[in-house]
Amino acid sequence: MTVAVPPTKACRIDRFGPPDVITLADIERPAPAAGEILVRVRAAGVGPWDAWIRSGKSALPQPLPLTLGSDLSGIVAAIGPGVTGLRAGDAVFGVTNPNFTGAQADYAVARAGMIALKPEGIDDIDAASVPVVAVTAWQALFGEAGLTRGQTVLIHGAAGNVGGYAVQLARWARLTVCATASAKDLDYVHGLGAHAVIDYRAGRFEDAVHGVDAVIDLVGGDTQARSFSALKRGGVLVSAVSLPDQALAARHGVTARFFLVDVTTERLVRIGEMLQQGILRTDVGAVLPLAAARSAHAMLEGTRPHPRGKIVLRIGD
Ligand SMILES: NC(=O)c1ccc[n+]([C@@H]2O[C@H](COP(=O)([O-])OP(=O)(O)OC[C@H]3O[C@@H](n4cnc5c(N)ncnc54)[C@H](OP(=O)(O)O)[C@@H]3O)[C@@H](O)[C@H]2O)c1
Repeated sequence: MTVAVPPTKACRIDRFGPPDVITLADIERPAPAAGEILVRVRAAGVGPWDAWIRSGKSALPQPLPLTLGSDLSGIVAAIGPGVTGLRAGDAVFGVTNPNFTGAQADYAVARAGMIALKPEGIDDIDAASVPVVAVTAWQALFGEAGLTRGQTVLIHGAAGNVGGYAVQLARWARLTVCATASAKDLDYVHGLGAHAVIDYRAGRFEDAVHGVDAVIDLVGGDTQARSFSALKRGGVLVSAVSLPDQALAARHGVTARFFLVDVTTERLVRIGEMLQQGILRTDVGAVLPLAAARSAHAMLEGTRPHPRGKIVLRIGD
């Protein structure tokens, strides 16, 4: 006797375009393949890369139709072949897959190597706000820039979702932290641990900041290009937005690189411990139901106002 599995509600796109290409559709419940788990999703994060995927501007191939979303928090519903260390019923958080798709649905399949047990005392909304942005900050500072105690870093976009974790992690690592942000966020970024915060609309950071060991670029464009003059010779510019100009880097005697985040269980466990110990704190801005995914994307586009902090979709009851 076969038991009918109810359809899964999912945020789908079958063509690229503006937020109204998103539909809340009934799809077949996905099944975990080898090395994967099935998660009953309770919350899913929304980030700028979701807008890139939705609008067809993702750097990665994104075959259509697809379910949007990368970051999730929920309960393990099933385990795929070869998965160890996780059981049905476990509370977990993390990212679905390297394509950053599939999370914004009642049920989602995720690579077990991109998932960790959810830290005790952290609820699903907060947990779903963490994976990509916190791991990106960690990787930028310690993986790509290789920063160590006593060094100096300039973080652009410090009040943003990645930037906020970068400031907290840099302070924890006993770095000297300079940052750029809007006037409305100066106190917030100081509160996260920055030693100096420059209002990027009021002043030119390169007039105030010189000889830093590293620049973490979370903004790109002109800000990235002007950052070379803030670096000491032998310093490093790390961008999460675009590949910096290599000729400019050579002229300034620095290295400059772009990276894609690599969310792993090991990094999530480390971040989870720091959340539990209060070394890191989350920043959730807007919480919306799954059915309001279009509004969440309008917030990403800036056509709908939203508070600072991560946008999160609450899923299920
Ligand atoms: N490579 C990867 O794997 C990877 C992973 C994660 C994120 N990213 C990328 O990293 C970037 C940041 O992500 P996020 O989630 O942190 O975005 P976010 O939350 O939107 O943060 C961006 C921040 O930058 C600030 N900002 C804008 N222009 C600025 C300027 N000229 N100088 C200083 N600050 C400025 C914004 O402040 P106002 O709002 O006040 O202007 C905002 O606080 C995005 O482009 C994202 O796609 C890449």
